[in-house]
Amino acid sequence: MAVIAVSNPKGGTGKSTTALVLATTLARHGASVTLFDCDPNRNLVAWKDGPTASPVTVIGHADSTNIGRMLKGEGARSQFVIADLEGTASLMVASAILAADLTLIPMQGSAMDATQARRAIDYIEDQAATVGPRAYRVLFTRTKPGFATRDERAIREKLAASGVPMMANDLAERAAYRSMFTYRQSLDELDPQAVNGLDKARENADALAGEIVEILRTAREPAHV
Ligand SMILES: Nc1ncnc2c1ncn2[C@@H]1O[C@H](COP(=O)(O)OP(=O)(O)OP(=O)(O)O)[C@@H](O)[C@H]1O
Ligand SMILES: [Mg+2]
Repeated sequence: MAVIAVSNPKGGTGKSTTALVLATTLARHGASVTLFDCDPNRNLVAWKDGPTASPVTVIGHADSTNIGRMLKGEGARSQFVIADLEGTASLMVASAILAADLTLIPMQGSAMDATQARRAIDYIEDQAATVGPRAYRVLFTRTKPGFATRDERAIREKLAASGVPMMANDLAERAAYRSMFTYRQSLDELDPQAVNGLDKARENADALAGEIVEILRTAREPAHV
């Protein structure tokens, strides 16, 4: 029903973490979710091969010649299709963004991240000139809850001043999000004895997923005349 691309040409901004947190959270709330692992490192395929019993389907064999069709095809079957894209600019990334109902651009609060995020935004806006409006949001990742650095605040202000839409919720820095990959489990499956801050991590994930559902719902409603 909805295709979400997670993209930023800069490496290590939190794309795979965001994609996995979102997918497993939406699935925990009962949604059918398909996750496309479009990164040659196949971290999400490896995650699914682990001990997790999460119902999320992970597909790792799409390529630049079929990604658009595969995303649209799965989108007709699953309530949410989430594409974790590689940290480079490629034909695969371009096609996935074109097929998406919403593109999330995870970034950290540094000038270097902001420059690369700007490239992703410029690209989406260029697509929009040809195919019509494209929904996207910048998502701040690895933020410290309740504490924004001066750099981060300056970057947010700059993006807001140029009209860039940003998620109200961040994906905060939480050990639990890293542990999902270490133990190859969802937040719900992780052992609270072994992983700190699971409740806070789940709360953050729920808020983020809720905001995304709301964005998609609003985007689907016909415009008032
Ligand atoms: N919210 C978070 N809390 C804690 N650690 C995080 C968070 N987000 C990302 N990380 C860590 O930061 C590193 C990069 O994250 P991730 O692999 O999700 O980025 P990526 O954008 O997918 O990278 P690539 O471009 O290489 O695919 C990883 O070690 C990950 O565990
Ligand atoms: Mg990744």
